[in-house]
Amino acid sequence: MSQKNQFQSIKGFYDILPEATPLWFKLEDIARKVLSQYGYNNIRMPLVEPTELFVRSVGEHTDIVEKEMYAWEDQLNGDKLVLRPEGTAGCVRAVIEQNLTYNGSQRLWYIGPMFRHENVQKGRQRQFHQVGCEAFGFDGPDVDAEQIVLLARLWRELGITDVELQINSIGDADERAIYRQTLIAYFEQHADCLDDEAKRRLHANPLRILDTKNPRMQAMCEAAPKLMDCLGEASKAHFEKLCQLLTDAGVAYVVNHRLVRGLDYYNRTVFEWVTTKLGAQGTIAGGGRYDTLVEKLGGKSTPACGFAIGLERVFLLMQEYGVTANNAPDLYLVNVGELAEEKAFNIAETLRSEGLSVVLHAGGGSFKSQMKKADRSGARYAAILGEDEVASGEISLKPLLAQGEQQRCQLQQVVQKVKD
Ligand code: HAM
Repeated sequence: MSQKNQFQSIKGFYDILPEATPLWFKLEDIARKVLSQYGYNNIRMPLVEPTELFVRSVGEHTDIVEKEMYAWEDQLNGDKLVLRPEGTAGCVRAVIEQNLTYNGSQRLWYIGPMFRHENVQKGRQRQFHQVGCEAFGFDGPDVDAEQIVLLARLWRELGITDVELQINSIGDADERAIYRQTLIAYFEQHADCLDDEAKRRLHANPLRILDTKNPRMQAMCEAAPKLMDCLGEASKAHFEKLCQLLTDAGVAYVVNHRLVRGLDYYNRTVFEWVTTKLGAQGTIAGGGRYDTLVEKLGGKSTPACGFAIGLERVFLLMQEYGVTANNAPDLYLVNVGELAEEKAFNIAETLRSEGLSVVLHAGGGSFKSQMKKADRSGARYAAILGEDEVASGEISLKPLLAQGEQQRCQLQQVVQKVKD
């Protein structure tokens, strides 16, 4: 039971415990490997950014900006600051500020925590982690396709199957402006079907109404005019080429006409990867093109495209698929008696210099209790140093996971056997 004067973590903010970190490492290592296979370079942005950056990029009338940002005024200088709710805006800020596209295009990726004051549920936290990926300076659909194919490869390498790719094109700003009017007129004709949220959004952000989860509005939204029908030739061609590239790459997709994404900076391609295995929070990654954002934030006009993966959701999915990982050492070094204790410290160092991972038993105790700890450590071997071993200058090696006899060995033989 928690004591009254004990601290607890804040709602929606979680510790990631040592038993979980090996699987996190696996996820992060595989993501890093795949991203570098596609030529993406890592960038690390601050967690705190100016509030206005997100108002201008993500959009004033989005859920994130309207109600989910951890924003405050710095008591020392009055600056308006925010814990970043997402990574794209900060990445664009850094690209402009550091002139990163001076010599041409850039493929960047980042990993780290994001913060949104959302209702907490499975797969939805207030601090969560994303791997994000942003490509600057490419206007063709080949880069949109490349990012989607990269994700398909990532799921395969992580052992995740059965995730559905949904894609759509939301056109360019002028095409969306025409669609916006068509959609408002349509929703006004069906005003009796609209819930309070939809009524509030009708003029501020009517496209988001299409995203509604309200069962009473599904049929009406399904029958709404399609954005695709308002697209001009160039946007249409971009989308068709993307579809063709995905088909050629063998990546299956579903065109979801109601997919608009919850952030305002997108144009043309938008996409999400969705699973049915996580309940309501089934989107494990989302992204799209944002060709006007760099200019809007003060840079020179630069086409861009990116996505972010929700790592907690992918982690849950890996568990769901039975993917495991462990951080067990090669050896647990048992040492009984004063002389053995003295020698064990240097032996452990020598073994580590040979590339082995070694947990040195510390704190004394009987042979039996030390062997119990060796078992619990998950190590493949117990290396045992008792009085007899010290006297003969040897070490006893006992396999803990596989069948096999305990054997007396010289130090170099220990290294050989463990590495074999
Ligand atoms: P987003 O769709 O807001 O896009 O977030 C991307 C992913 O982050 C979601 O699909 C989900 O997996 C995860 N996520 C979002 N909120 C939470 C939460 N409260 N708890 C757990 N996971 C969450 C973006 O953030 C864009 N910046 C993506 C992007 C990059 N677009 C272009 N470049």
